[in-house]
Amino acid sequence: FLPQRKKQRDCLINLKIQKENPKVVNEIDIEDLRSTNVCYCRCWRSKTFPVCDKSHIKHNELTGDNVGPLILKKKIL
Ligand code: FES
Repeated sequence: FLPQRKKQRDCLINLKIQKENPKVVNEIDIEDLRSTNVCYCRCWRSKTFPVCDKSHIKHNELTGDNVGPLILKKKIL
């Protein structure tokens, strides 16, 4: 790697999720949400990505970061 490229690699957010793909995109149809609350990972450490498995807690403890999930709430009408 060129020095600049290596420097950018050292800052990777996504360490292991779908690395075979040039871009990780997840599409969720809101109408398909079964439960009233669904948490989606934003730390890229979840073993159940794109769903949060609370791995962000360990990540935050180890790094001092402050990331957490995106929580979608479904209104019950
Ligand atoms: Fe990534 Fe919770 S596991 S935000």
